[in-house]
Amino acid sequence: MEDTVTLSPPRPSHTHTPPATDRQPASREAFRDGMAHLAAAVNIITTDGPGGRAGFTATAVCSVTDSPPTLLVCLNATSSAAEIFGRNSALCVNTIAASQTEIAMAFGGKTPMPERFAGAQWHRDVSGAPVLTGASVAFDCRITDRKEIGTHIVLFCEVLAVAQAGTASASVYFARKFHHLEA
Ligand SMILES: Cc1cc2nc3c(=O)[nH]c(=O)nc-3n(C[C@H](O)[C@H](O)[C@H](O)COP(=O)(O)O)c2cc1C
Repeated sequence: MEDTVTLSPPRPSHTHTPPATDRQPASREAFRDGMAHLAAAVNIITTDGPGGRAGFTATAVCSVTDSPPTLLVCLNATSSAAEIFGRNSALCVNTIAASQTEIAMAFGGKTPMPERFAGAQWHRDVSGAPVLTGASVAFDCRITDRKEIGTHIVLFCEVLAVAQAGTASASVYFARKFHHLEA
């Protein structure tokens, strides 16, 4: 009599769980810890208009499409800047150079709005939002759409002008620290 061997069907590759050193269900904390390992450029997002002048530091900035040139920016709805961005349509994404981390820390929370702007030099382009002098790249934009997702407001921004500093350096936020890059 032959031995009977029961073979289980091969598992589809998409259900395969790879070995992980620390796998957790996606709680808020696990998500935040995971995001700490997603290295990201550091940007100072500014606005001016009927609601007044405001700015905050953001890593949650992403290209949407080049036709029309569009970025998205995620803004915490409870931040002091949220109401002002809600009333204005001008917005500038200022991607900081390696030497500008102190400015990013000032815009990273708690500092009163006038003090944030006092620590750097600014000029204007077409939208009227403050453009950071010496930024690695600045995307001058008009907010075209907004969508609330949980705690944040996603701002969709049509890019009107792009200004590059010509010196290739960047500051990247990774593992809850700033790191400098030179090209
Ligand atoms: C490196 C870094 C990245 C940040 N990224 C974001 C972001 O993408 N979106 C956001 O709403 N806040 C972000 N923040 C926090 C805001 O900059 C901060 O909440 C904002 O300045 C408002 O703070 P306030 O309520 O004290 O004015 C970041 C802060 C730091 C230091």
